[in-house]
Amino acid sequence: MRHVQYLTRYTSEGVGTDVEEYMNAGGYVGLQRALALRPPEVVETVTDARLRGRGGAGFETGKKWSTVRTDSEVYLVCNADEGEPGTFKDRFLMERAPYLILEGMTIAAFAVGAHKGYIYIRSEYPRVISELQTAIDTARSTGVLGQDILESGFDFDVGLMPGGGSYVVGDETALLNSLMGNRGYPTLKPPYPTDRGLWDKPTVINNVETLACVPLIFSEGPEWFRSIGAPQSPGPKLYCLSGHVNAPGVYEFPMGVEVKELIEASGGVDGRFKAVQIGGTAGPVYDEAALDYKLDFASMKSVGGSLGSGAVVVMNTSVNMGHVLEVIMRFFSEESCGQCFACRYGTRQLEHMANEIASGTGREEFLGLMRETAEVMYHSSLCPFGQSIDLALTTLLDNFSDELRAHIGQQDYIREVMA
Ligand SMILES: Cc1cc2nc3c(=O)[nH]c(=O)nc-3n(C[C@H](O)[C@H](O)[C@H](O)COP(=O)(O)O)c2cc1C
Ligand code: SF4
Repeated sequence: MRHVQYLTRYTSEGVGTDVEEYMNAGGYVGLQRALALRPPEVVETVTDARLRGRGGAGFETGKKWSTVRTDSEVYLVCNADEGEPGTFKDRFLMERAPYLILEGMTIAAFAVGAHKGYIYIRSEYPRVISELQTAIDTARSTGVLGQDILESGFDFDVGLMPGGGSYVVGDETALLNSLMGNRGYPTLKPPYPTDRGLWDKPTVINNVETLACVPLIFSEGPEWFRSIGAPQSPGPKLYCLSGHVNAPGVYEFPMGVEVKELIEASGGVDGRFKAVQIGGTAGPVYDEAALDYKLDFASMKSVGGSLGSGAVVVMNTSVNMGHVLEVIMRFFSEESCGQCFACRYGTRQLEHMANEIASGTGREEFLGLMRETAEVMYHSSLCPFGQSIDLALTTLLDNFSDELRAHIGQQDYIREVMA
């Protein structure tokens, strides 16, 4: 499969950051076409394109937009929290193609009847925050944001909200709490944000990359979008390659590219391939069997995994899987918001057992106990964070069982591999 340049067409130097250049390259054609339709037709077009959310869960965007309660003021939120380790595609888009995101937000707002939108952006991206503010101001003065957009009579404006540094706030319910000035705790669903979100008003939340795909659907047509990549979740996808590859970075391919094709595109493995983690820290960890896996939502689900954000972290043979286990469990333990017992206590226990295993003082029963703990968390955690540790842990224990077992009670072995 060959790499494509549909989103990245707008990210080349100077194109996506200058409003005139962006328009010369075809920007705002999608918005013009969408504004000529009725809002329900805009939703239908996105449904017809089969766009699925790029924020991790892969929810159908058209379906989400069609469930928005319409008897009230509606808000639109762009989720730019991007705290997932190994994920930097949203930053890439915001730095290089801010107007593409603003255009996508404006089409989404028109579709669902929102007149106010927010970009909730992680505060670790200070340069992006100031550049986005400049783009918002320029879009307003150019007539593509604010009042009477493109003389259509439609009003929509966008505000920026920097986050407070929490990973869990990337979850949509926690994000809304944070936006309202509350502690960034997730809440139980239902109610879904499309029913009761910001200040109890219906709210649509979409990821940066999802919104960046929207203008293309209107400028090129939903059939065109559907013709790209995997039939069940089509369109272009930005994959983030990091770890032991020779040229880490963001690569655009049609949905459904194979892991080995992506690694090849990123300059190949630096050393000898050993493992890959897909979709972020909560994603599955595989051995070389994954090289043939196709990276789209349905294909990853069919092998018991998940695509997540599209992060691909490659590890070579220098990596000790005991250390990987420890790092993943520490991440969960540090990032748990602590609101519910199973996750607060479970993540600490998992971190403790992982530390012991990695340092050679673990016991055989820890391997089973870790699985049981993750399973209990899966069934009793309030939000997807506590439920998601199960996949990373079980794939790691299943696919690297011999190596992890070799750590049990083997301080000499550990000293040798860490030397
Ligand atoms: C712990 C946690 C962290 C998340 N972090 C992000 C994030 O950084 N960016 C994002 O877009 N979605 C994130 N999500 C998913 C959001 O809750 C939500 O599904 C997404 O923003 C919806 O957008 P989409 O439908 O366009 O994918 C996270 C979910 C969880 C549970
Ligand atoms: S599962 Fe974890 S992160 Fe989610 S609400 Fe409970 S304690 Fe917080």
